[in-house]
Amino acid sequence: MLVINDAPTMRRFTRTQRSSGRSVAFVPTMGALHDGHLQLVREARRLADDVVLSVFVNPMQFNVRSDFEKYPRDMDADAALATAAGVSVLYAPSADDMYPPGFDTTVHVENTAAPLEGAGRPGHFDGVATVVCKLLHAVEPDVALFGRKDYQQLAVVTRMARDLDMGVEIIGVDTVRESDGLALSSRNVRLTAEQRAQAPAIHAALSHARASLSRGLSPEEVRRVFSEQLDAVPGARVEYVSVADAGTLQELDSIDGPAIISCAVWFGDVRLIDNVPAP
Ligand code: PAJ
Repeated sequence: MLVINDAPTMRRFTRTQRSSGRSVAFVPTMGALHDGHLQLVREARRLADDVVLSVFVNPMQFNVRSDFEKYPRDMDADAALATAAGVSVLYAPSADDMYPPGFDTTVHVENTAAPLEGAGRPGHFDGVATVVCKLLHAVEPDVALFGRKDYQQLAVVTRMARDLDMGVEIIGVDTVRESDGLALSSRNVRLTAEQRAQAPAIHAALSHARASLSRGLSPEEVRRVFSEQLDAVPGARVEYVSVADAGTLQELDSIDGPAIISCAVWFGDVRLIDNVPAP
């Protein structure tokens, strides 16, 4: 596996591969790799000849400084996992390369980024869109893969790539979960043993919400039942629960097409997000 740390070298690699007829798939990450990330790599290997995986903890997308500082980092473990998973290139740019002095440009996606995570984390999706735009320009892949775990992020990136004619196909990959239903996340390692034991309640409540919707409960009732269920879980605090149109992410009063049920739930100072499609 090659390790590349700067954009010009990264771009040269992809251009060389493509000129010899090889396709390139790209998996952007912030490291602390787990099986959710590796599932994206497996899917990427199915779709292209070479897989580029980036590791960059992007300061611009953290609206809370301490969350950025506490974000788990382990480049050696990540490199070992990436090698074992069959990644061709680990792209790990430095923060100075990404945001040199005088950096002055933001990519802003308007309506798709406004509700849900965008409302709870001001500026978050500006940071995501800007860094993903830069990474896509450095890697110039044929396809880029994103997890449905971060459903709104996938929607924002898909919108951006389309709106800005980026010429890359954005592909969504289903959420990988622990056997008890908890969605894999780099933040899970920060849960205490007690919080970890309670956290599967999130997916249980989402599954219950999906079943309630299909039985005919209204989105409003489903949101209320979800909150009541989580309020009964020691240590859990619901930031939001949403039943929204799967395309526009606008809140629904009634169901008349594909919807997405999503939530942000705090355990102590750890913020977990998850979602399920409905029906
Ligand atoms: P990160 O949180 O490291 O996630 C990298 C990719 O892995 C994202 O596309 C995310 O949706 C996916 N992922 C995480 N957990 C998953 C799971 N349990 N199942 C399936 N996929 C999962 O998302 C980011 O990094 C950043 O915002 C980034 C896009 C890299 C921009 O900085």
